[in-house]
Amino acid sequence: MEIAFHLNGTPVRLDAPPTRTLLDWLREDRGLCGTKEGCNEGDCGACTVMVTDEGGAKALNACLLFLLQLDGKAVRTVEGIAAPDGTPHPVQQAMVDHHGSQCGFCTPGFVMSMAVAHCTGRTDHDDVLAGNLCRCTGYAPIIRAAQAAEGAPAPWLADSAKTHPVSVDDLAAAYAARPDATLIAGATDVGLWVTKDLRDLPDPIFLNRVTDLARIEMGESIRIGAGVTIAALRDAMRDVHPSFAEMLRRYASVQIRNAATIGGNIANGSPIGDGPPALIALGATLHLRQGNARREMPLEDFFLDYRKQDRRPGEFVEAVTIPRHAPALRCYKISKRFDQDISAVCGCFNVTVEGGIVTAARIAFGGMAGIPKRATNVENALIGKPLTADAPFEADFTPLSDMRASADYRLTVARNLLRRYVHDLAGDPVSVLEVQP
Ligand SMILES: Cc1cc2nc3c(=O)[nH]c(=O)nc-3n(C[C@H](O)[C@H](O)[C@H](O)COP(=O)(O)OP(=O)(O)OC[C@H]3O[C@@H](n4cnc5c(N)ncnc54)[C@H](O)[C@@H]3O)c2cc1C
Ligand code: FES
Ligand code: FES
Repeated sequence: MEIAFHLNGTPVRLDAPPTRTLLDWLREDRGLCGTKEGCNEGDCGACTVMVTDEGGAKALNACLLFLLQLDGKAVRTVEGIAAPDGTPHPVQQAMVDHHGSQCGFCTPGFVMSMAVAHCTGRTDHDDVLAGNLCRCTGYAPIIRAAQAAEGAPAPWLADSAKTHPVSVDDLAAAYAARPDATLIAGATDVGLWVTKDLRDLPDPIFLNRVTDLARIEMGESIRIGAGVTIAALRDAMRDVHPSFAEMLRRYASVQIRNAATIGGNIANGSPIGDGPPALIALGATLHLRQGNARREMPLEDFFLDYRKQDRRPGEFVEAVTIPRHAPALRCYKISKRFDQDISAVCGCFNVTVEGGIVTAARIAFGGMAGIPKRATNVENALIGKPLTADAPFEADFTPLSDMRASADYRLTVARNLLRRYVHDLAGDPVSVLEVQP
């Protein structure tokens, strides 16, 4: 398929193979080797590039970005951020001035994350750089460099880009006609099928140009299109469901959150995805579409068994609806590393207490079973009594031991999270960011 985009300010037109990544193309076909390959799975940030579309500039991992996702956009690599006369971009100069680089392998990725933050005016550098790993310099000089570059003029005008929207009706017709096609939204899962499993995906359907799938409609209930990125969802949740938004801060990294969609997070059926437990605790309704036929179901009913979902051939996730009001919702993510790590256990609680008695409870966990799962026995044990941390988790869950955690650890954590919830509702500090020794 022929695509057109801008690369470092120059128009490019090419016939892109379905699963050629931007990283491979930059390095192998264009000789632009400043963009580094570290992990090739979205974990290290060495391959970070700037991609600009109608929504503005974003940092993305080139290793998980297929060329076909770039149509109509503008890409800048580390080779394309200095001024035409060679004057470094302010973040490059600041990295030199503040000794932000030693071996230098990670440096282009850091520089690109910093250049995007510089362009969009973000100054929360710890968050911005959580998806970039450095093994030798240490982060303090890098953060100092990012701070020093704040507000300095950039040597080139911001890129603009024009995308070519495709409607959700087109998507429905295409997928109904080609039910064996692979839907690709943010490619943060599918990209790994290519870069790690070396799979060919002969018939991809890209969702990232379906702009009407990326809408959030705020009303009494909130309808979130399947194509909404985790970054956009986090922004939308900040005022309505702050605990959910805070948990999404720890969902991977800026680069991954800019690409990954909530539809992909639900559709992949992962037992350790962070979106589904929160959405189930909120009482989310899932909207599925196959051609012109639509159906809906409580989100928890979608997950049938490990990696088996209630989805028919040619059917896709169109949206998910959640209530606007859930003041008692709390979402807790437990992982080995605070930033950029997959959950060992993710527990989400939404319990209503009236007159000192629990009248309703929705509690859901990731990492405790083969699917994201509601703790119905725990919920039933809590209802009708004052809220306590005493509940039969072993009746709901028989977790597995794996490299992230043992079964015992997981059960203990689940129990402790209910304790934490009780304290949280009582107003006690419970976050590792709040608790002081
Ligand atoms: C470095 C890294 C860190 C990560 N960290 C986290 C984390 O902290 N928490 C977490 O939950 N996940 C994490 N993930 C996993 C991943 O980001 C999520 O599962 C993501 O939400 C998938 O969305 P996507 O848009 O990228 O999906 P894609 O990779 O495009 O697709 C995933 C699957 O969903 C299907 N699909 C996509 N959209 C639809 C749709 N609308 N309807 C039907 N099927 C669809 C695809 O065909 C595919 O089977 C991480 C991944 C990486 C690489
Ligand atoms: S190479 Fe590590 S994130 Fe892309
Ligand atoms: S400077 Fe060596 S990994 Fe960062």
